[in-house]
Amino acid sequence: MTVPPPDVVRSAYAQLAVTDLAAARWFWVDMLGLHVQHAGDRTLYLRGTDELTHHSLVLREGPVAALDHLAYRVRTAADVDRAEAFFRALGRPVRRVPAGAGAHGVGDAVRVLDPLGFPVEFFHEIARGERLIQRYDLHRGAHIARLDHFNICTPDISAAYDHYRSLGFGCSETIEGDGHELYAAWMYRKQTVHDVAFTGGAGPRLHHVGMATHESHQVLRTADVFGSLGKEHHIERGPGRHGVSNAFYVYLRDPDGHRVELYTSDYYTGDPDHETFRWNVRDDRRRDFWGNAVIESWYKEASPVLDLDGAVQPVAEAALDESAVRVGADGLGTSAEAPAGS
Ligand SMILES: [Fe+2]
Repeated sequence: MTVPPPDVVRSAYAQLAVTDLAAARWFWVDMLGLHVQHAGDRTLYLRGTDELTHHSLVLREGPVAALDHLAYRVRTAADVDRAEAFFRALGRPVRRVPAGAGAHGVGDAVRVLDPLGFPVEFFHEIARGERLIQRYDLHRGAHIARLDHFNICTPDISAAYDHYRSLGFGCSETIEGDGHELYAAWMYRKQTVHDVAFTGGAGPRLHHVGMATHESHQVLRTADVFGSLGKEHHIERGPGRHGVSNAFYVYLRDPDGHRVELYTSDYYTGDPDHETFRWNVRDDRRRDFWGNAVIESWYKEASPVLDLDGAVQPVAEAALDESAVRVGADGLGTSAEAPAGS
C-alpha cells in the first residue's frame, strides 16, 4: 500500500549551525539586511521583508559549521501526521518535535532523515510576523524579500528526483547528458522555478540557500558594497544571469563558508501542464547565460550536514561530474572524461 505524501506548500526555513554568531550576524543582518525577528541565547531568527511567518533562516551557534536542518511548511496540521507516516513507511529515522521543543515560533513538527540523508522538518503552525513589505525605513542591505529555495548536493540526482516526485514536486528544469542522464534538476511546490534543486557532487551536503530580491539592482548593489568594504572575498561567483531559471544572481559565502545565492527574476510554473525545460550539459549557457565560467569552488565546496542527533554525516561521492564536462569551440562542446589523475 502506498502511503500518501504530505501536502507541501513551500520551502520554509533553513537552520544553519555557525561557529561565531557575531560574525554571522554581521553577514546576514548588517550586510544582507535580513530582519531579526527573535534573538535567543545563541540563536538568531531572521526573515525577509515579504515574509509574514516568523522566520526563514535560523542561525544557531555551535562547534561545527553545518546544515542543522531544512524545513518545509505543509498545508494542514494533518499533513504533519502524513509526513510522519510517509517517512516511517520508508523506514527512515523520524522524530516528533512538539511545539516549544524545536524552533522558536514553530508548532508541532516532524523531523526526518530523508532517503537522501538530509535532516528535513515538516511543520504547519508558525507564528506570524509584522508586515514589513512597506516598511521601507527598515529595508537594509540586499533588501531580501524572502527565502526562495534550497540547493543540495547529492551524489545520485535521479534518486533525488524520484524522492521529490514522490512528495508531489513538479520539475521545472533539468541539466541532462546526451543519454538523458541527470546532472541537475529544479523542483517546486510553490509556483516558481523551485523550492529545491540538486547539484551533483559528494553528498549529503548543503550547496546553498537561495534568497529572493525584487530587482537585479539590489543584487548588483550588494556586490558593490562588499567591494567597497574590502570584503570582496565573500563574493564567490557572479553577478550574472542564469540559463536555468533565467534568474539574475550572485553567490556569496558567509564567515563560515555557508553559501547564499541572491536571486531574482525567475518565472511562473503553476499551470498543471507546465513542461520541464531540459538543458544539455554541454550547453555553456546553462549555468551562466552569458557563458561566464563557473569557478571550481562552486562545484566542489558545500556545507556538511548534521544527522538528527547533531553529528556530522559522512558523504558519498558522485558518479557524474558536471565540472569535468568540457565545452568546445562550437559552443556545444564535447562531454569529456576528466584526465586520469586530475
Ligand atoms: Fe539557487
